[in-house]
Amino acid sequence: MAFTKVLRFTSLCALVAAAQAAYSIRDSYNKTNFFQGFEFYSGPDPTQGFVNYQTAFEANAASLAGYANDAVYLGVDSGAPNPVGGRASTRVNTKNKYTKGLFIADIAHMPSSTCGVWAAYWSFGDGWPGNGEIDIIEGVNRNRSSTYTLHTSEGCSFQQGDCNSPGDGTQGCSNPHDETQLYGDAFNEIGGGIYATEWTSQAIRFWFFPRTGAMPQDIAAESPNPNTWGAPAATFSGPGCSIDQHFKEHQIVFNTALCGQWAGRVFGSDPVCASQASTCEEFVAANPERFREAYWLINSLKIYQQDGGNMVRDASVPKQFKA
Ligand SMILES: *[C@@H]1O[C@H](CO)[C@@H](O)[C@H](O)[C@H]1NC(C)=O
Ligand SMILES: *[C@@H]1O[C@H](CO)[C@@H](O)[C@H](O)[C@H]1NC(C)=O
Repeated sequence: MAFTKVLRFTSLCALVAAAQAAYSIRDSYNKTNFFQGFEFYSGPDPTQGFVNYQTAFEANAASLAGYANDAVYLGVDSGAPNPVGGRASTRVNTKNKYTKGLFIADIAHMPSSTCGVWAAYWSFGDGWPGNGEIDIIEGVNRNRSSTYTLHTSEGCSFQQGDCNSPGDGTQGCSNPHDETQLYGDAFNEIGGGIYATEWTSQAIRFWFFPRTGAMPQDIAAESPNPNTWGAPAATFSGPGCSIDQHFKEHQIVFNTALCGQWAGRVFGSDPVCASQASTCEEFVAANPERFREAYWLINSLKIYQQDGGNMVRDASVPKQFKA
């Protein structure tokens, strides 16, 4: 075996293994085509952040998005002193919508562990939360680790709790784990790594392979078989939730929000953040240089599917993108 994670197979894993057919690649996003397959969200922040999401044109012109270091760069403005209404940032989502599959993201850098930042790599379906949300990377402020979380409408529960997201959406079901290099500065210190998320009718499972460890060779060979990877960091499965009913047609998102319903709400409870400004908005407005490291550098995102997986292609005209 080419990797060092401890194997903790359970009978459930064996069951899932027996049911699986091989994966074939469906979409591969990287420095050659990322901005044709992803579109920019430039509306108001649904989580009420102090953020001004840019259009593709604006982001490109301001060098907040483009290709850098052979990867895809998505950043936050680190120049404007006291921007009105929010600091410029980026949020992109796939035009295609995926139902089930294996999502493998190779990420070299993510937004730093900085007061005010709320960074996420996640997916969701239309009519939130009816078609579900899968949070693969998500954290705020000075976090150095994050949790895998699902949000759904009523009637979906796993061992980790009820995934139902009423009201402000803060509820959900999260899987605690012992990995320590999942987010922010801790992730960047090791050059990032590969996040793999598998979504089948039976389970949603997560793995993280740090850059400094050995990676499963079948990932580089583009013939991934999660059943050879050892125990996932988190598994959501069982009779309490029909995954097929609660998760459907997801667009995949990378975004860097600032303040808002999570980062802003807990800003004051972090003593280091609280000592620098009286509100999250004030801090973000007054300290542009602190957001220099609040960027994503994405080597690739590859989506694999088996029979029964589905992808709906958006018919809109691809945008040209150079930066
Ligand atoms: C980059 O994406 C293109 C288009 O999907 C694909 O043909 C190519 O193999 C990818 N490159 C790598 C290194 O994965
Ligand atoms: C992330 O930081 C917030 C405070 O800003 C804290 O409430 C939360 O527990 C932290 N989470 C992790 C996983 O460190």
